[in-house]
Amino acid sequence: MGILSRKKDRPDPQAAPEAAPEPEEAAVAVEEVEETGGDEPVAEQATPVEPADTESVEEELARVEEEGASEESEIRLKAKDLLGPVKGKGEAVADSEKPEVPDTDLADVISFANQKGGVAKTTSTLNLAVALSELGNKVLCVDLDPQGNLTMSQGIDPDKVEKSMYDVLVDDVPITDVIAEREIDIAVASLDLAGAEIAMSTKIGRERSLERALAEVRPEYDYICIDTPPSLGLLTINALTASNKVIVPVQCEYLSMRGLAQLQNTLGMIQENLNPNVQIAGILPTMFDSRTVHAKEAVALLEENFGDLVFKSRIRKAVKFAEAPVRGASVLKYDPESRAASYYRNLAEEILKNGKA
Ligand SMILES: Nc1ncnc2c1ncn2[C@@H]1O[C@H](COP(=O)(O)OP(=O)(O)OP(=O)(O)O)[C@@H](O)[C@H]1O
Ligand SMILES: [Mg+2]
Repeated sequence: MGILSRKKDRPDPQAAPEAAPEPEEAAVAVEEVEETGGDEPVAEQATPVEPADTESVEEELARVEEEGASEESEIRLKAKDLLGPVKGKGEAVADSEKPEVPDTDLADVISFANQKGGVAKTTSTLNLAVALSELGNKVLCVDLDPQGNLTMSQGIDPDKVEKSMYDVLVDDVPITDVIAEREIDIAVASLDLAGAEIAMSTKIGRERSLERALAEVRPEYDYICIDTPPSLGLLTINALTASNKVIVPVQCEYLSMRGLAQLQNTLGMIQENLNPNVQIAGILPTMFDSRTVHAKEAVALLEENFGDLVFKSRIRKAVKFAEAPVRGASVLKYDPESRAASYYRNLAEEILKNGKA
């Protein structure tokens, strides 16, 4: 499988942090306090922070005890409704019927998709891409979200780019014209990408515009990571049609699970009509706060319903994820030795080890 081959063994300027020694005990202790206690709301944080995050651990435990089993059983009951139509492990895709991806010399194309907003799609796209790059892979990120957050996260202003994925999708400009070299290569978005869905709607083969554009560069990369907008519109359909894998970031709270059935339905439609090769590589629990029963319960539910499809790696809550984009950097570059950086390194290793993407 393409996953294990690293055909571009180019020396990587970003590789240095990877060799960094484990932080000493003392440093780890400081970091722990910072990352578990420092989760107060941050300006850019699009997701609401639970009230629990502002409580001390003791307060949280007392509160949870009071709320007791009723919270748990209520969540389980509701989850049955929400996850009802979702198939169990392995059934989401009829993998026995799927042809293997024929050419292992082509990049694995991974979409990060979930129509729910603020679940860490962009954060996961960038940080996993950089983690894969640290391991010696050549990686391209594609910003397919008109919000341009991924582009911003690499220090590029989407308002000021001359050409963007809009031109690639709508006017068939070669994708190499919109690739900037940063920590990883990035095909940039601009705000006018919002108009691409309408502009593309009259094109023949409009669902395949991205697939066509990527064909040119797919032999050049090991991984192509696509950040999608929080919707299941034509941009996301283009991403899923161009991909062979999908990573679904899910925030570790009950409400975040609501859209999974809908996402699977869309994926099923794409498998049937546009791209039989696309499969879920894994469901990624993000913003995990092990202090709350709610977060643990949410992950347990995911595992009950999706089994091995749920990555073992947990992306915990850490304020560094909100800080790094302000510096135009991944967390792996912003604070290479932080625990936050290790979460995505662990995920990259899990993916490489298990051949999950
Ligand atoms: N592990 C984490 N801990 C704390 N904050 C996080 C974490 N991951 C992401 N964030 C923050 O949560 C917010 C939402 O993350 P992100 O932009 O990656 O989500 P998204 O799914 O791409 O959102 P959208 O649907 O709007 O595109 C950002 O402010 C980000 O910095
Ligand atoms: Mg995003």
